[in-house]
Amino acid sequence: MSNANSITNQKIFDAIHETERDGHLTDRQSEGLSGLSGARTVGLLQRLAKIYEDVPGACYLEIGVFRGLTLVSTALEAPGLACFGVDNFATLDPGGKNRAIVDERINRFGARNAELINSDFEVALESLGNHICDRRVGIYLVDGPHDYRSQLICLTLAQPFLHENAVIIIDDANYPDVRWSTRDFLLAFPEYRLAFDSYSTDHPANLASTEKAAFEATWLNGIHVLVRDPENSLAPMMPPTADNERGLYLNEWLAHRLRLAELAPEALVLADAVVSGDTAAEQSAREALTAAYANNRPEFENRHKDRNVYSAALPQSRFNPGS
Ligand SMILES: C[S@@+](CC[C@H](N)C(=O)[O-])C[C@H]1O[C@@H](n2cnc3c(N)ncnc32)[C@H](O)[C@@H]1O
Repeated sequence: MSNANSITNQKIFDAIHETERDGHLTDRQSEGLSGLSGARTVGLLQRLAKIYEDVPGACYLEIGVFRGLTLVSTALEAPGLACFGVDNFATLDPGGKNRAIVDERINRFGARNAELINSDFEVALESLGNHICDRRVGIYLVDGPHDYRSQLICLTLAQPFLHENAVIIIDDANYPDVRWSTRDFLLAFPEYRLAFDSYSTDHPANLASTEKAAFEATWLNGIHVLVRDPENSLAPMMPPTADNERGLYLNEWLAHRLRLAELAPEALVLADAVVSGDTAAEQSAREALTAAYANNRPEFENRHKDRNVYSAALPQSRFNPGS
């Protein structure tokens, strides 16, 4: 491990231990700074911000701002650290108010070093240099869409922009999609090591209120912390995964080629109602599925029942023009 790496990693481990013990560095919940991250997640980001504020050229980047809890909390702790948050407000925003809430919180709390990048994360990551200029991302929070591909793309597309001593925090690590994508990233990028992981017994939405409150005080829905360790000073450690979970990813391919692939969530809600014999739920699920089908009917009717490959307009063969 280079000297700079080992010093930073030791500070990161100290910050994690301190966070496990003390939680938040500053808790602004009562002032209305709430969101979807656990108290320790916020506390760790706050401590890391103080560390990276002193690292020349480093900045903070998060994917998934929601209403600004992590972005504003982190920025306020280190006014000298440029903090960027990417969100296109695609989910968890039925009233379309989250963008305005983020702007209001940045202003009200005076987080002048926080900047919202209102964009899809893939678009933002492909042109991140336009936003962060010659800075490098020292602290990277991945907390956007939690499907396997989005997680992996968040990790891989950010690579050219990460600081040589970057720390990566991956939220919602309870999900198999998150555990598998972190594992696959660590196998493909062996200069990174899993420094710390933590899981809760269930998703907060499925927990009783006392248990939920207990996990809200910690890492909520699981966390991964990755550090750069080019000289392999740390032991290899992988997120827990079970072999039978791989079937879910095989199912993606089997489901995606079917005629109604996009309706898989609605179809599974209907399937659940059917097998559990809940006739009221079956009726409303059937209506939701039929309505979603009607929304895109011409497209669905143009497809095969199975093995849709969408290759009709692809070139038959090509050579690289530089060959
Ligand atoms: C779990 S929330 C983030 C929570 C936040 N870090 C906090 O502290 O409360 C996930 C966010 O990811 C955003 N998101 C979903 N898909 C996205 C995409 N394709 N590009 C950018 N952001 C996206 C959602 O709009 C949502 O606000």
